[in-house]
Amino acid sequence: MSLKNAMTADFLRSAYGGESMAHMRYTIWADSAEKDGYPNIARLFRGIAYAEWVHAKNHFNVLRDQVGDATVAAGAVFGHTNIVENLQGAIDGELHEVEQMYPVYLETAKFQGESEAQKSFHYALEAEKIHAKMFKEAQDKAKEGKDIGDESIYICPICGFTEIGVTVDKCPVCGVKREMFKEF
Ligand SMILES: [Fe+2]
Ligand SMILES: [Fe+2]
Repeated sequence: MSLKNAMTADFLRSAYGGESMAHMRYTIWADSAEKDGYPNIARLFRGIAYAEWVHAKNHFNVLRDQVGDATVAAGAVFGHTNIVENLQGAIDGELHEVEQMYPVYLETAKFQGESEAQKSFHYALEAEKIHAKMFKEAQDKAKEGKDIGDESIYICPICGFTEIGVTVDKCPVCGVKREMFKEF
């Protein structure tokens, strides 16, 4: 089913832009965390960067029939200073998505009867809630000069659901088997 409504399409483009930049920013901040002696926070950034790539890919695929150029305006976070500030940037970006952006995008897609966009926004919204919490916990540790624990971080390749350690048999958001999860 192809997209019919211009406003939902605009929101998908913007969300694609926002997720693409988040992916890039987190890989940059991961390298810094590694260099500064926080290998596990670096892993968290890399795992969550992959989740944002999953979201960007989902949005891009919903737009598959919208062929051609577009200028994309999207929320962005800048700054590359120290681990605590970088994590604050990550928290702020995730909270913007959770509290402002995705709830509005999701309701618009629902109102416009765009079921594929609705699913893509729903997947992202659920993952970003978890990301905000994980980055906050990592920041609390970093403020004390400590790294987070060394348990594996798992990401659902379909929806971006993220967990630390093994807790679920299947993805609670999209239902895919956990064997499919990507480990960081
Ligand atoms: Fe996120
Ligand atoms: Fe999932």
